Amino acid sequence: MLPPEIKIVPDISAFNRTTADEFISCARSAIEAHGRFTVALSGGSTPRGIYSLVADDQENPEKKLPWEKIFVFFGDERHVPPTDAESNYRMAKESLLSKVPIPEQNVFRVAAELDANIAAKQYEEQLIRFFQLAPNQWPRFDLIMLGMGPDGHTASLFPESPALRETQRKVVANWVEKFNSYRITFTFPVINHAAEVMFAVLGSDKAEVLREVLKNPNKSLYPSQRVEPENGKLLWVTDKITARLI
Ligand code: 6PG
Repeated sequence: MLPPEIKIVPDISAFNRTTADEFISCARSAIEAHGRFTVALSGGSTPRGIYSLVADDQENPEKKLPWEKIFVFFGDERHVPPTDAESNYRMAKESLLSKVPIPEQNVFRVAAELDANIAAKQYEEQLIRFFQLAPNQWPRFDLIMLGMGPDGHTASLFPESPALRETQRKVVANWVEKFNSYRITFTFPVINHAAEVMFAVLGSDKAEVLREVLKNPNKSLYPSQRVEPENGKLLWVTDKITARLI
């Protein structure tokens, strides 16, 4: 495993610029290397500015992407319909997917309006079909984008939740006690088989956990510490306020 690359930028504008450029650069490299770009988007609130900038960048010929060669998945989803304000799909659609010419069939939404276990099973089957996986094979995304919560969770892999122990399944319904609800999430093996994982983390309330995740040799403290791509790049992008304790 390569050591993580950590980019600490001055402010939110530089954060969105840096992460959007990484998205575009990763897409270009993947398309050049093997004709397509497979990406799993992160949810929550931080990525909205990133996705909006990627969309705005499409006006610039130097940053324009061939969206017919781009395939978008979601690293996790809340257990809500796609129209719900909490939906990660809705956030991505509003900020990016509705603004770029990506074919509908290139966007793989989690059917989170269904029973959570059914939604997870269906999504897992979609991954297997899309990546043409043999039974014990893992998908290798060109890029998996992740955020991190103040409790050190990433995707929907929350502290002390059952999914932290999952080593066989690719997607699971994970019961999150503090929300009293299910989330549908990639498991660690899927994340750790990616060619690149980019954590995009903002929030002064995350400063202490970020220091622990990046600096504490005890790797069993927080779920985000278990993101260690086996044969891929790990990039952290954050801003000075969030990284003030590093
Ligand atoms: C989600 C995300 C989650 C998110 C973190 C950070 O579904 O909420 O996938 O892992 O990245 O909770 O969220 P913020 O960007 O809102 O701080």
